[in-house]
Amino acid sequence: AQENGHQLWLRYKNAKPVTVICSKNSPTLSIAKQELQNGWQGEPNASITLTIKKDKALKDDGFRLSQNEVIAATEKGVLYGVYELLRRQRTGEAITGEAENPSYQIRILNHWDNPNGSVERGYAGHSIFWRSGPDSLTVTQNDKKIWTEYARANASIGINASVLNNVNASPKIITPEYLNRVKAIADVLRPYGIKTYLSINFSSPAILGKLKTSDPLDKAVIKWWQDKVKEIYSYVPDFGGFLVKASSEGQPGPQDFGRTHADGANMLADALKPYNGIVMWRAFVYSPNDKDRAKQAYNEFMPLDGKFKDNVIIQVKNGPVDFQPREPFSPLFGAMKQTSVMPELQVTMEYLGHDKYLVFLSTMWEEVLQSDTYQQGEGSTVARCTDGSIYSQKYTAMAGVSNVGLDTNWCGHLFNQANWYAFGRLAWNVNLKSEQIADEWLKLTFYGAQSSKSGEANYNAGWNDNFLKPVKQMMLDSREAAVNFMTPLGLHHIMSANGHYGPGPWWAPKGMRADWTPPYYHQAAENGIGFDRTKTGSDAVEQYHEPLASQFNDAATCPEKYLLWFHHVPWDYKLKSGRTLWDELCYKYDEGVNQVRSFQKVWDKAGVYVDSTRFLEVQRKLRIQCVNAGLWKDACLLYFQQFSKMPIPYELERPV
Ligand code: GCU
Repeated sequence: AQENGHQLWLRYKNAKPVTVICSKNSPTLSIAKQELQNGWQGEPNASITLTIKKDKALKDDGFRLSQNEVIAATEKGVLYGVYELLRRQRTGEAITGEAENPSYQIRILNHWDNPNGSVERGYAGHSIFWRSGPDSLTVTQNDKKIWTEYARANASIGINASVLNNVNASPKIITPEYLNRVKAIADVLRPYGIKTYLSINFSSPAILGKLKTSDPLDKAVIKWWQDKVKEIYSYVPDFGGFLVKASSEGQPGPQDFGRTHADGANMLADALKPYNGIVMWRAFVYSPNDKDRAKQAYNEFMPLDGKFKDNVIIQVKNGPVDFQPREPFSPLFGAMKQTSVMPELQVTMEYLGHDKYLVFLSTMWEEVLQSDTYQQGEGSTVARCTDGSIYSQKYTAMAGVSNVGLDTNWCGHLFNQANWYAFGRLAWNVNLKSEQIADEWLKLTFYGAQSSKSGEANYNAGWNDNFLKPVKQMMLDSREAAVNFMTPLGLHHIMSANGHYGPGPWWAPKGMRADWTPPYYHQAAENGIGFDRTKTGSDAVEQYHEPLASQFNDAATCPEKYLLWFHHVPWDYKLKSGRTLWDELCYKYDEGVNQVRSFQKVWDKAGVYVDSTRFLEVQRKLRIQCVNAGLWKDACLLYFQQFSKMPIPYELERPV
């Protein structure tokens, strides 16, 4: 069989016979039974019992495993337990009897999919939900097949919610003809434990309802939303709620009517409340007039802390700017103490090489989630500030902007599947280590892979030293490599415009909004480089809790990975390595390129252990990445050199 990557991490080969005992029946439980029968790798002819019962240690989605029993409080819990059991059988991990509960209640993918089938910042083909053309709303068998496969992949890693459309939302998504399709999708996702959500356009009352206004305090507007919500629930009785991008990047919002984010979010929350629906209100806001874009979300949202209804969650991107290869965590985490807050991560690699680069994002997410905010003393990590450990939240959630499309391998790059996988795993257990996640993913993804050389299939055997170890290490190093060849030492937002793919530190057309141009962020000049966010600069440091504010404020104590994020420093500034800033920049860019070259060597050797289709596909992408890493290095160094006027150290490879 051709290994085209379509099966993701769910490769059920060589299944052994098993008897499944379960006294109840339901669509979810039949999926659980079927999975066991298709994928059993335990004792041949074993019996396994699926038990639903109350257990103090088990939350709704939690479960407890033993060799021959899956215990859970709900059907969904059984399903998650079954996937976990099958996973452990294939990776060879021990099956222990402890209770396993998810870190976040809502583990949700945000699809930036448009009704015409395009996907904003999507690099894996068209939308799996929407398409253009005359029959675009007809639900076909093929649609259902893809939605089922998608739902199954999500359920297998604990994802339990999906937003079906772009945050830049078309109002028509909540019209009856689209709601029909939403219902069809929700019906397919439901047995897999996945709730359906929609992004809405804040001006819908005016656009669809022909009201004079969309002012959230207007009685007619309130009524319009109440009716609309009621209508939506008639299609999807367990509808999850709304995701809202409002008063942001030109999207309409409450501020158009002189109202606050809280006024807007609460009005929608009230309409959803009777049905247990929720509002995920995004904090991704900034305006061209602001001196420092990184400060704006905090400035706008902090005064509203405590003003949101309990079924509103403020959805905050991991960093204060926009999904850059590296950013410090957003200062809103932990700072909003009376408001529910959830992290938004980007699984699709808008700023990290799209479907071209191999970048395992788990290490980046781990870095953010384990960052200490100090908001309630030491140990107030972003994870603990959002998962309910520190602040009580009625709902806890983590969102990931999906990288899924109609490409046969779902994600464009085979290794981008690892990012989908990692998102699910981290949302389930926020304390998992990237090393563990990479290990699992590799073992599952290449489970039973046929060697392109010998034709033999691998079932866990003999991989540790020759395949697993180096490839895992490559994954774990891949994000730092990307930071090195794109934005080392705290640089950010220096990519080419619009496409956000290659380098573009010079891009600044006349009349363009400054905060959309790279020079606004890198501030390179003869006197140095970097954005001054210290007390004497934009004072963004002030938004962080001590000791971070002081630490970030002083170039001597600021972690070097954030140096140019917080400081404008002279080119001859001495770093810990003893090198000047300019030399260090040259070394970092050079190191990034060399790291990608070393990845190529690692992968070349992996060819013996994996099938030729996937081997060649990844090899080809690594070649592109390598050429482009060189391009990033050359472009950035030659551009910055105009200001530094210093030579590139002779021991490094010269720009071509
Ligand atoms: C980025 C991205 C946009 C997206 C926006 C958002 O700016 O480039 O395409 O709409 O983030 O998250 O809302």
